[in-house]
Amino acid sequence: MSRQIPFKLVLLGESAVGKSSLVLRFVKDQFDDYRESTIGAAFLTQTVPLDENTTIKFEIWDTAGQERYKSLAPMYYRNANCAVVVYDITQTASLEKARTWIRELQRQADPSIIIALCGNKTDLSIRRQVTQEEAKKYAEEEGLMWAETSAKTGEGVNEIFTAIARKLPLDAPPRAGAARAGGAKGVDLNRQSASTPNEACNC
Ligand code: GTP
Ligand code: MG
Repeated sequence: MSRQIPFKLVLLGESAVGKSSLVLRFVKDQFDDYRESTIGAAFLTQTVPLDENTTIKFEIWDTAGQERYKSLAPMYYRNANCAVVVYDITQTASLEKARTWIRELQRQADPSIIIALCGNKTDLSIRRQVTQEEAKKYAEEEGLMWAETSAKTGEGVNEIFTAIARKLPLDAPPRAGAARAGGAKGVDLNRQSASTPNEACNC
């Protein structure tokens, strides 16, 4: 008997690191060179087949990275089964911001949350500021999954979402309506259209 299991996934990270672009790549296999900054958050879904009987349905909250939306984030990571915290490999400061989000998730999200640290924009590696070694070491110390991606080329994007899907606890189904437990109540999300993601998985 085939089953589709929903899991809530939240994307966090500094503005312009490519969260929406990663989602757009993952959900629609598209990329925009000129994406508008997300307002509030965007909601999208995508399925990942695990085996012939089981499909994971990701219910994705793509949050806005601009500072003025920071206070909304807990609504989206609360009850999330997994989080992708994105930084831009060409911007050291964006890894610092990612560390801040990870500390907040470790303190305030569900203790069972699966966290993946994602270094995006590998197509710009000529401008790289964050080494793979540094990010990987930090991820190992914190027990996080880690991968590098390029939403632009698609490198690593499906891989990171698939790796997360494989780590999800299928025996303990998510709470009913988990994906909607966060922001959908009485909040004007100003939804945007889907976005895209990318690759390089060490998970
Ligand atoms: P906020 O919504 O403001 O939080 O930003 P975001 O993290 O969603 O970033 P977004 O996806 O809007 O991307 C910001 C800019 O980076 C856009 O111009 C994208 O085209 C570009 N971009 C995103 N991913 C990549 C990538 O992998 N490579 C390159 N070269 N550019 C990228
Ligand atoms: Mg965005």
